[in-house]
Amino acid sequence: MVEALHIRDVHYTYPGGPEALKGVTLSLKPGETAALLGYNGSGKTTLLLVAAGLLKPQQGEVLVAGINVSRNPANARRHIGLLFQDPDDQLFNPTVFDEIAFAPRLLGVEGDELHALVEEYAGLVGAKHLLNRPIHTLSLGEKKRVALASILVYKPSLLLLDEPLAGLDPPGAASLLALLCRLHRQGTSILLSTQNIWLAEALADKAHIIEDGKIVWSGPPRGPEWEKTLEERKLYPPKLFSGCGSPG
Ligand SMILES: Nc1ncnc2c1ncn2[C@@H]1O[C@H](COP(=O)(O)OP(=O)(O)O)[C@@H](O)[C@H]1O
Ligand SMILES: [Mg+2]
Repeated sequence: MVEALHIRDVHYTYPGGPEALKGVTLSLKPGETAALLGYNGSGKTTLLLVAAGLLKPQQGEVLVAGINVSRNPANARRHIGLLFQDPDDQLFNPTVFDEIAFAPRLLGVEGDELHALVEEYAGLVGAKHLLNRPIHTLSLGEKKRVALASILVYKPSLLLLDEPLAGLDPPGAASLLALLCRLHRQGTSILLSTQNIWLAEALADKAHIIEDGKIVWSGPPRGPEWEKTLEERKLYPPKLFSGCGSPG
């Protein structure tokens, strides 16, 4: 069986910067959803960018559907949908329609077929009413949904999602979560980074905890071992404050 994603002993150092990944090995089976958890600066975004082939590791290799992303980037990228944490890093077309139409147009889709496809994927993310809107007029939640549609429209087999729920209000988070659950049920392979323990527990088959550029724990995000590791690694939402105390 060809794995959806195989990352083997990857090291990545930013030019003039820190060694952000220090020998990461991780694989994702077809149809599996995995959550990457860790503090700010632990290497989650770097790992997703390496997995997507946007950063080239100095050591190790990344295979997507069996294709080496460094050696065969154009071929590998057709399989990969990367959702940036900040949709403003992703969206670059004048309108929502153009954004969702971008990849199909590159693939030669046009006319009625293009319109039907764009409407279908806008509908999937609840953005049909936004098709004529300039991107800069959208809310963060709307931008995230449009960014997701612009990826889903070319049917990647592997989704790499960087903190997909970050910054969304509760209804925005709930609707995105519902969509991710549907994609998961349909058999899309998903690797997502998150600070949300409950998102990992709700959606993921497997969790990987990353600390200082290394995977330090992998396993199902439920059960006593999971609870223990969250406690030990202080990954529960912080209980740092016990209130402001009495005025003093
Ligand atoms: N463009 C960059 N240039 C230099 N260092 C970076 C860059 N992006 C991230 N880093 C560093 O790499 C490490 C991992 O960062 P990142 O992958 O963004 O972590 P996370 O997504 O878990 O918050 C941090 O030390 C961060 O400061
Ligand atoms: Mg990050």
